[in-house]
Amino acid sequence: MPRAALAGQSATDAGQNAEAPRLSRAGARFAATGANIGTSEVRPFLPNAPAYDKFPFGLWQTCANRQARHSFRAGMGYADPAGYAPLRRAIAEYLAMHRGDRCDPEQIVITPGGHTAFMIATLLLTDPGDGVLFEDPGPLIARKLFESLDRRIVSVPVDADGMDFEHVLQAVPPPRLVFAMPSRHHPLGRTLSLARRLRLMDWAQANAAWIIEDDYDSEFRYTGRPLPSMRSIDAPGRVLYVGTFSKALFPALRVGYFVLPPALVQVFRNAMALMFRSVPLETQMVLADFIAEGHFATHLRRMRDLYTQRRHDFIETAAEVSDGRFQIDSPDSGMNVITWLPEGVGERRIHAKAQTMGVHCYPLSDYCLQPYPRSALILGFTCVQPHLLRPGLQTLAQVIATEQRQV
Ligand SMILES: Cc1ncc(COP(=O)(O)O)c(C=O)c1O
Repeated sequence: MPRAALAGQSATDAGQNAEAPRLSRAGARFAATGANIGTSEVRPFLPNAPAYDKFPFGLWQTCANRQARHSFRAGMGYADPAGYAPLRRAIAEYLAMHRGDRCDPEQIVITPGGHTAFMIATLLLTDPGDGVLFEDPGPLIARKLFESLDRRIVSVPVDADGMDFEHVLQAVPPPRLVFAMPSRHHPLGRTLSLARRLRLMDWAQANAAWIIEDDYDSEFRYTGRPLPSMRSIDAPGRVLYVGTFSKALFPALRVGYFVLPPALVQVFRNAMALMFRSVPLETQMVLADFIAEGHFATHLRRMRDLYTQRRHDFIETAAEVSDGRFQIDSPDSGMNVITWLPEGVGERRIHAKAQTMGVHCYPLSDYCLQPYPRSALILGFTCVQPHLLRPGLQTLAQVIATEQRQV
């Protein structure tokens, strides 16, 4: 029996009391990150959370039962590390139809989610100390991942045309990797202009750098046609497209994928084989069926309609209850809104108070390396059930009003 259990302590208690273990440099960085481990508790206005209650559980279960009865028995050994071939074909068809991107299924490598893909790309394409071009503000977990892996963040601001990188392109040595969100930057929601996309790809080609295109929530666009991905115009072959099913379906699924330049496919397959062997085959089989039978496309259509309605209701209700205390940037895509706060009101205090009153949000400063000129909160609207919308926004307005009186 472990000594901790004998002493009536949990293993975690015992670990906290013990001397700090000797860790690698990366280990020490991971230990210090304090990364938000995630939550399955859905409260308004948890950012980036799909409408879990609208997931077609019955259809998913039907696909799962069928796979368990038939194909799964034939697939109990080690699977293809690049991913189940029918799933890769289904993803290639989906991308051609919805993202204007024709790729060969052989260029697709299935990963356990988007963040694992970012990690693999970092390990295979950069060395510790190498620069990663990254937006400020930019996604917190991805930044912590690069920092923990001992990569140097080369931060660039974001303006109306997306990441504003021109001034760092002459840096010596040049960044080896760019982390970009061309279709919808998180958290500001900007789109990278065509001129900048082309400039970035030319620069990457000239400097032997690579670009990760994180396209995690591009399925949800509420005005106009879907924007083509950056990879779809990547003539030089410098873009690694990363997709995920975390938002279109649900994060616990842990399925994401690369679309890789052909020259990188073999090394990424090898890395998947050594690090993960493969993503669980049964999950891939169920997902492949779910897509092939049209359930994925139907679910996406339904969620797009639902989120269009929820976005509309959010904006209308916020305008009614805010009494001018906060302003919403109405997003044309994605799952979140930026809520700008009145001058002088501290977003961290509002965030902390709102949390205690059951309102979930993230302060913009969590995403920032340099102080941002305005205070804001990031609020998710996609997971909010209609009866919780108005009370949630009223609570937020009340917290801001109280804070304003104290300024
Ligand atoms: C910026 C960003 N990229 C990608 C993802 C998807 O990550 P994963 O596929 O690992 O769940 C998320 C999840 O919220 C995200 O915020």
